[in-house]
Amino acid sequence: MVERTGLILIGAPGSGKGTQAKKLKDQLGFAHISTGDLLRAAVAAGSKLGLDAKGYMDAGGLVPDALVIDLLREALTEPAAAKGFILDGFPRTIPQAEALDAAVRIDRVIDLQVPFDLIEERITGRRMSPSGHVYHVKYSPPKIEGTCDVTGEKLYQRSDDTPEKVRARLEKFDAETRPVIARYQSRRIVVAVDGVGDPEAVFTRIMAVL
Ligand code: AP5
Repeated sequence: MVERTGLILIGAPGSGKGTQAKKLKDQLGFAHISTGDLLRAAVAAGSKLGLDAKGYMDAGGLVPDALVIDLLREALTEPAAAKGFILDGFPRTIPQAEALDAAVRIDRVIDLQVPFDLIEERITGRRMSPSGHVYHVKYSPPKIEGTCDVTGEKLYQRSDDTPEKVRARLEKFDAETRPVIARYQSRRIVVAVDGVGDPEAVFTRIMAVL
């Protein structure tokens, strides 16, 4: 068992996990491990993992447990994760949670709560830079439309950020990930945080419960 601080940010697609995990990383100096980002990097690199994962991701489904568990185990060995880590998008299924429990201690689970009727607007308005900077056309637009403020790269829309795919992803969340939250609730390490409102206000709520 490796001793270090382990945080999980869990919540529906578009609840703001990635946005808040980046802030937590800056504040706490922990590694931010997003299985979604790692999978998108594998797809962009055209690796075998990327080729295997792409179809599931494009359909709004979940990538098979064995693939993401291997990816996660590797990420946890990175030096950046030695002090602590923030998991964003993992675990999403009970087998993933079991594999995590066998590898590391989890201290706190932040359950980021956003009503489903706000999710579609958040997700369909999201724009990304290839380097991973995230914008929203209404809530956090770039200074120049379609261009990343930080890198100057052209922004793109994720292929799974369409209304149909959002519905499929929310169904997966209900069926596969809610039981994961219940599993951690039984250990009394889950804290529910209201994810509605300005991202800074949400961040203040998270810091208050940590
Ligand atoms: P992943 O990338 O993890 O997608 P997700 O869980 O669906 O979450 P999102 O990235 O869509 O949203 P988020 O909660 O991070 O929100 P964000 O901060 O960006 O996974 C993608 C796919 O990979 C999965 O569907 C699956 O196929 C596969 N995968 C990944 N992990 C897996 C696993 N463990 N097992 C199996 N398969 C896996 O915010 C969204 C938008 O809202 C942004 O535009 C943002 O600017 C805006 N926003 C954020 N906060 C606010 C706020 N407070 N107010 C207004 N707007 C806000």
